[in-house]
Amino acid sequence: MKILFIGDVVGSPGRDMVQEYLPKLKEKHRPNITIINGENAASGKGINEKIYKQFLEWGAQVITMGNHTWDKKEIFDFIDDAKYMIRPANFPEGNPGKGMVFININGIEVAVINLQGRTFLPTGDDPFRKADELIKEAKKRTDIIFVDFHGEATSEKQAMGWYVDGRVSAVVGTHTHTQTADERILPEGCAYISDVGMTGPYDGILGVERDAVIKRFLTSMPVRFEITKKGRTQLNGFLVTIENKSGKATNVERILINDDHPFFG
Ligand SMILES: [Fe+2]
Repeated sequence: MKILFIGDVVGSPGRDMVQEYLPKLKEKHRPNITIINGENAASGKGINEKIYKQFLEWGAQVITMGNHTWDKKEIFDFIDDAKYMIRPANFPEGNPGKGMVFININGIEVAVINLQGRTFLPTGDDPFRKADELIKEAKKRTDIIFVDFHGEATSEKQAMGWYVDGRVSAVVGTHTHTQTADERILPEGCAYISDVGMTGPYDGILGVERDAVIKRFLTSMPVRFEITKKGRTQLNGFLVTIENKSGKATNVERILINDDHPFFG
């Protein structure tokens, strides 16, 4: 089983990158499943139904979310019908949507789980205990379990990787928008990267117009963050190969496409 994960898609520049490069990445790597983190896909905050459907049309099977899940109010109108969208499973009870989905690829089931860290982010339920609960549930159906852990703190993400090693196939970090170079397979077979990085503007600050962010640091005044619409773009991703029988990862590969790291088909 080969799973391609595309890191936090930011606004229209990010969506354009997915539309352009997802077919090329599929042709090159032949993933069985593509997962996209879409929590920043609609102008940097949240997602709408049109974009969710576009991602599926372009070839994604699952869309994961994060701390911006509820930022576009229309999500409440469609999340319960969005079969292939998951939001952090450890959002407190009463939140709409779900945090785990099963995908069937030619008779092989894959569980995809979304969790969110509690360090430097709005706190939800304990992601570690929630992971225990969902892994137990998923294991009744499959050993191939993929986790998007949306978190700010590298320590919390590493802790999650080690905590579930031997029980899941992969833990990929999202949210910081900066790709880390620590991809590896942990000793019991869990593929791991602290952060996959982002897909969208290459010359902004985490995808946002630089001037506004710099002004904020210089003045501590509130500023309006806009997505960098003009200029160069990037795509950050992660590719995991998993042995079907054991659910253990056998190969990991970082994907980085930008002007400094051009795509070679
Ligand atoms: Fe986030």
